[in-house]
Amino acid sequence: MRAKGIRAGSAAVAGASGGAPLADSAHRTGLATPMTVVRDAALPGRKVVKSAADLAINGAPPMFPEPLHVGRPNIGDHRRFLQRASEILDRGWLSNNGPVAQEFEQRIATFLGAKHCVAMCNGTIALEIATRALELKGEVIVPSYTFIATAHALQWQEITPIFADIDPATHNLDPAAAWRMITPRTTGIIGVHLWGRACPIKELQAMAKEHGLRLMFDASHGFGCSKDGLMLGNFGECEVFSFHATKFFNTFEGGAVVTNNDVLAEKMRLMRNFGFSGYDNVIYPGTNGKMSEISAAMGLTNLEDLDDFVAINRRNYQNYREAISTVPGLSVLEYDESERNNYQYVVMEVAPYFPVSRDQIVDALHAENILVRRYFWPGCHNMEPYRSYYPHAGLMLPNTNRVAERVVVLPTGSTLHADAIRGITSVLGVLASGKA
Ligand SMILES: Cc1ncc(COP(=O)(O)O)c(C=O)c1O
Repeated sequence: MRAKGIRAGSAAVAGASGGAPLADSAHRTGLATPMTVVRDAALPGRKVVKSAADLAINGAPPMFPEPLHVGRPNIGDHRRFLQRASEILDRGWLSNNGPVAQEFEQRIATFLGAKHCVAMCNGTIALEIATRALELKGEVIVPSYTFIATAHALQWQEITPIFADIDPATHNLDPAAAWRMITPRTTGIIGVHLWGRACPIKELQAMAKEHGLRLMFDASHGFGCSKDGLMLGNFGECEVFSFHATKFFNTFEGGAVVTNNDVLAEKMRLMRNFGFSGYDNVIYPGTNGKMSEISAAMGLTNLEDLDDFVAINRRNYQNYREAISTVPGLSVLEYDESERNNYQYVVMEVAPYFPVSRDQIVDALHAENILVRRYFWPGCHNMEPYRSYYPHAGLMLPNTNRVAERVVVLPTGSTLHADAIRGITSVLGVLASGKA
């Protein structure tokens, strides 16, 4: 694996502390000496957790001096990014479908083997534009077990998200449950490829065809992943990606709709630019969904290091799996090795017989500064405004409720050292003894 050029983000999100900063001169000129992988700080002297007394929840010092986040940015080669940034400044073309954004779109479309990539300012706006371009209205079926943006993108346009239950084995939409939610008001289905694992595309396609519904996918987790050898981005009428800073492939903020439909692509290109067709002619309701040049520059740079990001994530996933497989009551969700995966999420499930609860595990790890997440607890249907609109939705969502109460997502990414994984899993081992 090529390590050079990958380092911890010096401007991590959500208050995360950064890795070692570049020398000042490197920031100014981009002429840094070759960079090396920067791993999480303070490996030497990390405490060893062997018994309950070693746990921070019991008064011991935390394992990590700084918070270890689930999603810290993967950042490709700084010099190549700074070179592109410098060219953007020289050109003075910062947004409005500039040459870097156009190159980015072409590279993404080629990488995915799809006809069109319409780059956007973020995944949420991309969802809104895609659903608007598909003329969805009335009710649209979505899983509740997803990030809230899937539902909000609909609600924001006064389209009603109808929550269907998931298959507890895959965490993805259960086609039979989706079928039960179809009414005369249903106009579409948004399947979500949760954790980057494809949802049941064929079944949803058949259902959409039979009932005359439009089908699109929220592929925010699935960049670089495939289904039956075909890259996500090629299914349904279109697929939406998020390139948010915490995603394994980021453009600072960003997103895209990928489609093989020429007419739809053209419509979305106009809609992301206020609906303008030419200088003074507006032909659609539109919004400002454009990707900036600097975001596209980040995307092109990170695309060049994508294989490294995947390799690191895969190694982390395998290390976690190996360690956790020895802990009764804990399991790590598997990726199908016959497909392309980005291994961006390490998803641990806690069985009901595990001696401590999922939330106690989270508390114990947080005390160690290991900021694991309870994605996507408590489910969209338990958040506003949906909780107030449909207070009994949970009755139709037993698997969503069950899975949301069992899942813990563990830290991964290019800033995580194998030694940190050993530390994290040693805490789990002690919790499994039930003596914490
Ligand atoms: C499943 C899903 N959909 C939509 C989004 C929204 O993307 P963005 O944050 O780029 O707006 C996310 C982002 O986290 C997501 O995970």
